Amino acid sequence: MKEWIAKELAAQIDSEPNSFVEWLETPPDPTLGDLALPCFRLAKEQKKSPQSIALTLAEKFAQTSIVRRAEAVGPYVNLHLNRATAVRMWLDALSADRSFFTSTEGVGEIVAIDLSSPNIAKPFSMGHLRSTIIGTALANLFESAGYTALRINHLGDWGTQFGKMIVAYKRYGDPDLIRKNPIQELNQLYVRFHEEEKNDPNLEIEARAAFKQLEDGDPDALALWRWIVEVSLEEFNRTYELLSTPFTHVLGESFYNDKMASVVEELEARHLLVESEGADVVLLDAFSLPPCLIRKSDGATLYATRDLAAALYRHNVLGATRLLYVVGGEQRLHFQQIFRVLSLMGYDFAAKCEHIAFGLMKIGGKKMSTRKGQVVRLQEVLDEAIRRAQIIIAEKSKDLPDADEVAKAIGVGAVIFNDLKTHRLHDIEFSLEQAVAFDGETGPYVQYTHARACSVLRKAELLDTNVSPSVSVAISSALNLPSEIAETAEQFLFDDATWQLAKQISLFPTLRQRALNESDPSLIAKQILDICQAFNRFYHDCPILTAESELRTWRLALTDATRLTIRAALQLLGIAYPAQI
Ligand code: ARG
Repeated sequence: MKEWIAKELAAQIDSEPNSFVEWLETPPDPTLGDLALPCFRLAKEQKKSPQSIALTLAEKFAQTSIVRRAEAVGPYVNLHLNRATAVRMWLDALSADRSFFTSTEGVGEIVAIDLSSPNIAKPFSMGHLRSTIIGTALANLFESAGYTALRINHLGDWGTQFGKMIVAYKRYGDPDLIRKNPIQELNQLYVRFHEEEKNDPNLEIEARAAFKQLEDGDPDALALWRWIVEVSLEEFNRTYELLSTPFTHVLGESFYNDKMASVVEELEARHLLVESEGADVVLLDAFSLPPCLIRKSDGATLYATRDLAAALYRHNVLGATRLLYVVGGEQRLHFQQIFRVLSLMGYDFAAKCEHIAFGLMKIGGKKMSTRKGQVVRLQEVLDEAIRRAQIIIAEKSKDLPDADEVAKAIGVGAVIFNDLKTHRLHDIEFSLEQAVAFDGETGPYVQYTHARACSVLRKAELLDTNVSPSVSVAISSALNLPSEIAETAEQFLFDDATWQLAKQISLFPTLRQRALNESDPSLIAKQILDICQAFNRFYHDCPILTAESELRTWRLALTDATRLTIRAALQLLGIAYPAQI
């Protein structure tokens, strides 16, 4: 919203509003003013002293409707805003959703987001959870800017490990056990295979042959593989349902089986493929990268080959012009290689491919690892979070209708928020206890603040349902007050708690934009914590329902602005926002 203020100020002196936006600062001490303009740059341009420029500007700015008081202090102009005018402007934008929660720069552009992408027959790891959560938030952010976001689950359902799986199943598998507990049983088959392999080198050869059969389309091998994919997916889908993760495409690696030959041909035609120890590779020495393995000596393709085919499919067939990959930081090298090869193949969109990396989720300072046995199964974490939310709700709000639904929203929201409040590149320490707490920087705290705002509005009969609609009656009634009454607004907004809340809310559009530009949903999570804190202070300091007529109207309007902003933020983060807790 700084943009609007900059525009008004710039108009006063016939200057470019854009540079003003960059120059305007927030003074460290709010009593100095709401904004400050350093005059050094203008002084240089006009060859005058910054002090004299500050004096002239202070006089001019004092004449705009948005400024209540402008003071030259040395080389700075300190600006005290006309609070009522500013807040009216923000509330107007917010209630009409004019550029407050959305923008349009992405209209007509398609962005493909590779997210979640767990491996069939293996546990859904914390890394896959992070990818699902971060990828979903990014897709929501892109959509809020008008882009079409493709949410693609690139399931790990192909590769030599399926040869091993087939061999292991034929030797030691029990279909009934697998049906009951697919991932655990199938994963055990892998473990057993690797143990037995140590004493029996034939197993390895058998497994290679089995994968070859699969790639060549052998019906029996395919049927068995399909069954394994199916039972694994059933288990993953339970997690997706809990998280309410939408995918537009579930296209496993196997989908590209018939699309890789043409990739290999293309690489050959461009003379990029060379033989190395019997395998075909693309050399990347010139870029200080190891060679990218395309085809093994037995003709089997690799993870990288499938990613090349997938990238071409996303660009050529699905029409994506930007390709994002939300995958843990440990695959950095892999993506560097893929993007490099695409660019060597002559594809300009390689420059628009981006690996959105993230850090580890740790428990007790240690990485959660599937191999070392200290697996915390994801389903268990979510179930436990929901169970704890149920206990807290039973204590706090006894007669809550839909208590189970709300507990689910809170438990799952807690896990998601705990992830998104930290910058994605940082490792996160996971503590269920902390994540589900109702105070502190948690999802439940945010959801609870939203429900509190809803409850105030319900009591004022300005919200008559148990849902949180996107329209606001409260704001329109404040904006419709006759203009003489705007004076009351000016008075009440002088109180600090109210003004701080209004200012926090006004920052939201800028932060949404930054979150999008930097692919960083944590900016939204942090901003929303600030808004919640400001609202809770306002709620304690300023009586809302018992206030005098217009004051009450304004306070309710601000309460609704808070509700709408938290709602929009939670929606972006992929978290539910129950209207009653
Ligand atoms: N299935 C892979 C894994 O769990 C992640 C896939 C990421 N996406 C991709 N296009 N490579 O390690």
